[in-house]
Amino acid sequence: MRLDSSREALTAAARVDNTALERAASSAPRIAAAVRSRRARNVGSSLASAQGDVARPVAAAATPRDFSAFDLSGRRALVTGSTRGIGLGLARALLDAGAMVVLHGRDAGQVAAIVDRLARETGRIDQLDGIAFDVTDAGAMRDAIDGLEQRLGGIDVLVNNAGIGYSGSLIDVPLDDWNRVISTDLTSCLALAQRVVPGMLERREGKIINICSVFNRLGRDRVGPYAAAKAGLGALTQVMCANWAASGIQVNAIAPGFIATEMTTKLQSDEEFDLWLRKRVPASRWGRVEDLGGIAVFLASHAADFVNGQVIFVDGGLPAVL
Ligand SMILES: NC(=O)c1ccc[n+]([C@@H]2O[C@H](COP(=O)([O-])OP(=O)(O)OC[C@H]3O[C@@H](n4cnc5c(N)ncnc54)[C@H](OP(=O)(O)O)[C@@H]3O)[C@@H](O)[C@H]2O)c1
Repeated sequence: MRLDSSREALTAAARVDNTALERAASSAPRIAAAVRSRRARNVGSSLASAQGDVARPVAAAATPRDFSAFDLSGRRALVTGSTRGIGLGLARALLDAGAMVVLHGRDAGQVAAIVDRLARETGRIDQLDGIAFDVTDAGAMRDAIDGLEQRLGGIDVLVNNAGIGYSGSLIDVPLDDWNRVISTDLTSCLALAQRVVPGMLERREGKIINICSVFNRLGRDRVGPYAAAKAGLGALTQVMCANWAASGIQVNAIAPGFIATEMTTKLQSDEEFDLWLRKRVPASRWGRVEDLGGIAVFLASHAADFVNGQVIFVDGGLPAVL
């Protein structure tokens, strides 16, 4: 799906926002000068009081840290399942860190609407694109990814986030349901990587972030196919690392705890479960999609170039405490 239709209108909207940005930028030197002079005054007064107090040597000013390795400018990131929930949160974080972000879902209209919304909110239409396909449809995936790669010239960051939940007893889980969950939450991640990695291998760099779950580490009676898929994805993360790490590709996973999204709506409104969760999770709350943005930006960035094959839990401390 090409989203050219909405581009012109959005570029106009972005121009309006840019005017405000330019105005802010023109006042930036004055703000910076004021901050510098205030800092100098503060340093001077704290020095004077230190010397007045006891004449002791003052530590040399620390070298400013360079955080440019976290900057994602120029990186092209595809986040699957980013029409809402965790995927949308991750897409927003990568966008804010400077990446060009491709939004994705099954419905082209819904994807276009989210592209519009983010463009309006951020004024960054030039950093946004969108595609639509079902991750369990190999043919549709191939056509969409090939088209996207031609259009963008490659994908630097693949976030395998699209997924579905499951709740049902293990003894009679219908095999169709089992296969649907495994195919959406696990097999699709391999299939997508198989299409995107050849380009990464050619460029000798790339990042893959697989979205796992706290069920990679813990069991619960009614999540059979889901836990099996996510634990499999954790294992696949390591095997991908084993295959591609030497070619400059880093493959890691984020394992969120219980996050308040559409997927967990039923659990959130179940008073008993909500109470149990607040007691069970050391942080005593549901996770927010924003809780996952920082780690995603880190894993997508050059700051994580030597981090590979890891499953990183972001869960308020859940599996750490009994
Ligand atoms: N919420 C949690 O507590 C939690 C915890 C740990 C891990 N996770 C994982 O985090 C990921 C996102 O979860 P969420 O809570 O944000 O779920 P969500 O709100 O239900 O969003 C799921 C996203 O995946 C897309 N999707 C689902 N099936 C798809 C398919 N066959 N093809 C293409 N796209 C598909 C949906 O797009 P459509 O618009 O096409 O439906 C939607 O954008 C999942 O992998 C989930 O297992 C969630």
